[in-house]
Amino acid sequence: MPIAPKDNFLYGVATSAAQIEGAAWEDGRLDSIWDVFARKKGKIKDRSHPSPGCDHYHLWQKDVENLVWLGVNAYRFSLSWSRLIPLGRGELNPKGVSFYQRLLAALRKNDIRPYVTLYHWDLPQSLEDKGGWTNRDITSWFVEYAHKVDKALGEFIDSYIILNEPLVFTALGYLLGIHAPGRRGLANFLKAMHHALLAQAEAARAIRDQNKQVRLGTSISCVMGYPYRQQEKDLRALARFDALMNRLFVDPVVGRGYPTQELPVLKKAERYFAPQDLEKICFDFDFWGINSYTTKLVKYAWYVPYVHYREIRRDLPRTEMDWEIEPQGIYDLLKKFGSYPEIKEILISENGAAFYDEVIGGKIYDFRRINYLKQHLAMVEKARQEGVPVRGYFVWSLMDNFEWAEGFRMRFGLFYVNYETKERLPKESAWWYRELIRGNT
Ligand code: FCB
Repeated sequence: MPIAPKDNFLYGVATSAAQIEGAAWEDGRLDSIWDVFARKKGKIKDRSHPSPGCDHYHLWQKDVENLVWLGVNAYRFSLSWSRLIPLGRGELNPKGVSFYQRLLAALRKNDIRPYVTLYHWDLPQSLEDKGGWTNRDITSWFVEYAHKVDKALGEFIDSYIILNEPLVFTALGYLLGIHAPGRRGLANFLKAMHHALLAQAEAARAIRDQNKQVRLGTSISCVMGYPYRQQEKDLRALARFDALMNRLFVDPVVGRGYPTQELPVLKKAERYFAPQDLEKICFDFDFWGINSYTTKLVKYAWYVPYVHYREIRRDLPRTEMDWEIEPQGIYDLLKKFGSYPEIKEILISENGAAFYDEVIGGKIYDFRRINYLKQHLAMVEKARQEGVPVRGYFVWSLMDNFEWAEGFRMRFGLFYVNYETKERLPKESAWWYRELIRGNT
């Protein structure tokens, strides 16, 4: 059921299952890797556990009311694999299916277009026990999941985002060990990277085969980089940074292959290739989701293994995450990906900021967040006017939530969440976004 969005542009907000749902062991759901990771000592900075957190599983109706109040015409959220297929493989869990059916039906009733992320980092633990993303069989596990989900929920869904930020979940989860499942090592990373790309394209094809109408996309993490000096060494360092941070999960998919010229270390992944893999990881997506928050200044550094660059701190305003604020970055990214002939349409599938929020007389005066969003949206608009096919913008996030290894300390929401009472309060930024969507600012 197509909605006619204002000016043909989507104004949305985004969340993900592991970060908002809570109810980790209810109605048949079992552990995801984040449930297990959060129980380990020292992994989550504020020692919290994602459940109950925002408890969206029980309060979803209130959250849909908040979406309606905001006036968004799109909502990006993710499905919990562990809720739908608790052991990762096998039969669908009817209670999990019914939860998402009710949510999707409510969105449809309110003319809010769902952008459904299939995988936002929360692998069922039982699949991790079999090697998770380092096991090549994950391709068939993921295809099976995608296939079943689309059979059960597809009639309500007109757009899927297959993966969220594969670079982040493979690098932080399997190389550096600071995200779930907390594994380390180059070999683990290279396997996870390659299998994520394979699984992504195979799942997209599986959905496409049974659902010709649906729009398929995927979301990548992006960081625009700038050179420390206009000198050969730094410019080449920047090219390596860009290959890793922005191109690694795009170029192979559009048929340009892995960026091995800039990053020879990627050649080591070849030992995990099977014949035809490089063709199999290609998929012609209807749209690409770009997640963008910050930028980096990049300098040559011979001593940093494999990448030979380092990031230089600048004297720029920062968010609570310590991320430098430079709105120009989102514009430069849009121009960069807008120039790929293989990319037909772009969405900003995440942009937003964590700041310290205080409730004063029932209000949250988050003017820094408003400024951040305003400045970034202005850059998106500029790129659009210059012809970049950017069709939507999603604020991260609808409400404060579980910010992975940071726990609940980092608040990204337009709605403030009181984790004791579970009450949601619109921040000033929520009022501002609402007015913007109504065309009043
Ligand atoms: C992105 C994640 C999202 C959220 C934001 C702040 O990397 O996709 O889940 O945590 O960062």
